[in-house]
Amino acid sequence: MKQNIESHLEEKRVFKPSREFTKKAHIQSFDDYKRLHAKSIKNPEKFWASEASNLLWQKKWKKVLDWKPPFAQWFVGGQLNASENCLDRHLNGPRRNKAAIIWEGEPGERRTLTYHQLHREVCVFANILKRNQVKKGDRVLIYMPLVPEAVISMLACARIGAVHTIVFGGFSSDSIKDRIEDSGAKVVVTADGGYRRGQTVTLKQNVDQALKDNTQVKRVIVAKRANIEVSIKEGRDVWWHREAEYVNADCPAIPLDSEHPLFILYTSGSTGKPKGILHTTGGYLTGTATTSKYIFDLKEEDVYWCTADVGWITGHSYLVYGPLANGATCVLYEGAPNWPEPDRFWKIIEELGVTILYTAPTAIRAFMKWGDEWPKKHNLSSLRLLGTVGEPINPEAWMWYHTNIGGGRCPIVDTWWQTETGMILITPLPGATPLKPGTATLPFFGVDAAIVDDHGKEVGPNEGGKLVIRNPWPAMLRTIYGDKPRYKKQYWSEVKGCYFTGDGARRDKDGYFWIVGRIDDVLNVAGHRLGTAEVESALVGHPSVAESAVVGRPDEIKGQGVVAFVVLRETHKPSKDLAEVLRKHVGNAIGPIAKPDEIRFAEALPKTRSGKIMRRLLKQIASGATITGDTTTLEDFSVLTRLTKSADE
Ligand code: WTA
Repeated sequence: MKQNIESHLEEKRVFKPSREFTKKAHIQSFDDYKRLHAKSIKNPEKFWASEASNLLWQKKWKKVLDWKPPFAQWFVGGQLNASENCLDRHLNGPRRNKAAIIWEGEPGERRTLTYHQLHREVCVFANILKRNQVKKGDRVLIYMPLVPEAVISMLACARIGAVHTIVFGGFSSDSIKDRIEDSGAKVVVTADGGYRRGQTVTLKQNVDQALKDNTQVKRVIVAKRANIEVSIKEGRDVWWHREAEYVNADCPAIPLDSEHPLFILYTSGSTGKPKGILHTTGGYLTGTATTSKYIFDLKEEDVYWCTADVGWITGHSYLVYGPLANGATCVLYEGAPNWPEPDRFWKIIEELGVTILYTAPTAIRAFMKWGDEWPKKHNLSSLRLLGTVGEPINPEAWMWYHTNIGGGRCPIVDTWWQTETGMILITPLPGATPLKPGTATLPFFGVDAAIVDDHGKEVGPNEGGKLVIRNPWPAMLRTIYGDKPRYKKQYWSEVKGCYFTGDGARRDKDGYFWIVGRIDDVLNVAGHRLGTAEVESALVGHPSVAESAVVGRPDEIKGQGVVAFVVLRETHKPSKDLAEVLRKHVGNAIGPIAKPDEIRFAEALPKTRSGKIMRRLLKQIASGATITGDTTTLEDFSVLTRLTKSADE
């Protein structure tokens, strides 16, 4: 029998929302949250139905939820259109000429699209898609830089009932190829190129490479962005701007069944082929619009910036569908955070008057590493709310974000969710929830989250276990595209009757959820199961450490030994003494069992493009094995080569 995950770190700091914030917030007290949450859990369908009625439905649903586990249908019989909800709905009032998108390219140019203008562009492109034979239900693969055309093509697909599947612009031609095959897309939307760290990324060329020997794709629509030369294949490739000359801007949104597929987004499992996560229309839009409103506390005058790319679920849910359904003004930035200098984000916030910033812990740790002087150069007083997503944020990084970016006055919403969940499930509400650095706190309305042991039994306070969701929610994935058995097995077989997240977590005595890492990464040291996040967090708590990743390697005596890869802050140098200091530091913070057997200093860690540490690769390096498995999602391959080398030395 496996034991539960142990947890040793304790965080005592608590930050209550200020009166000033609370006064104007959607949810104004912790008691209100608790009362509303209890009510919503008793009758989730009532809660979601009431939120869904804030959207525009062409036809009202007959049944809120049809739940034949593990298959859910939400708002059955209802019809709506996501594009109409994000655009047309805002055109009849003061939002008509409000900025929907404020875009900044990496080279520095800016473009603003009002709701009226965005609507027009979307209608034009929807007509271009129709002109190129795209029909309701067809899959369209989008491979774009972060330019307004990326958003326009998503909303244009949604407008005519085509299903978009976005491949992040940093992925290789192999990724495009796999996803075209799996999704059966016949049309690709791309750009000549994009900008990243001053270089041009040759997107069209990658598409050409992916389409070598391919007969399935009939059309490639190319937007002009980087003005680089590209080859145009006669009969297959067309320019976006040329096509626009043949169509008008009249394209009514078609009513679609609530369960009509909205998009497929591929997420790499740690092994094996990527999973095409399928999301549908009515439930997804209800879930993302509702969470955006309460969690980001969106107000008419906010300037909201989610720094994710549209290639990730965060870009889908909280850059496009959620905020636009709320009529928000969204900032879009094409490039790297340290281009041309490490203050690019802070410059954008100052110049555009950003009020809400939603970013990832990996970015925050990079900013910490680059030094406090960069944010200090800018006036960040427009900010009122901060958010994070993607990984556990260690308390040190939380405090840095709170102090240096939030000026000590902005609440931080640490939001837990997944590509599969479609919407945020565990999160503070900024005007209500007392915050503790490092925890995503409590479940959102209508969400019944729990931590269970290997038998599916709920564990007590501070006992670690598996994070599960016990009831369906509207934005949940409906299946893995084309693979129902895998959907069942992956998410609904581990714990009976529950959605299994794959994450390990514990709840503290106040019921707050602390994510301790992926279950697959849990360390087992001399019979103690430890989450990676806690050891990493203890390491980053030392002033010399910028970032760390902890993995296990086989150990004859203890079962597993702990190996910590450590990236130092720029002011510190690796040494044997420092390694010893760090080992002791972890021992003091967590306990002797967590003391790393080995500290390996590294210049950088292998990460996915969305900033998640690839522990699977580090495990192989730590145990001296050769790297196997999929490395196509790795951001910078040279990091891996350097790590393997330093291990050999
Ligand atoms: C992790 C991103 C701790 C978690 C939206 C989850 C987090 C995986 C948090 C999903 C958070 C995401 N605290 N861990 N606030 N947010 N995670 O599919 O392990 O890219 O299962 O979706 O990221 O990653 P995905």
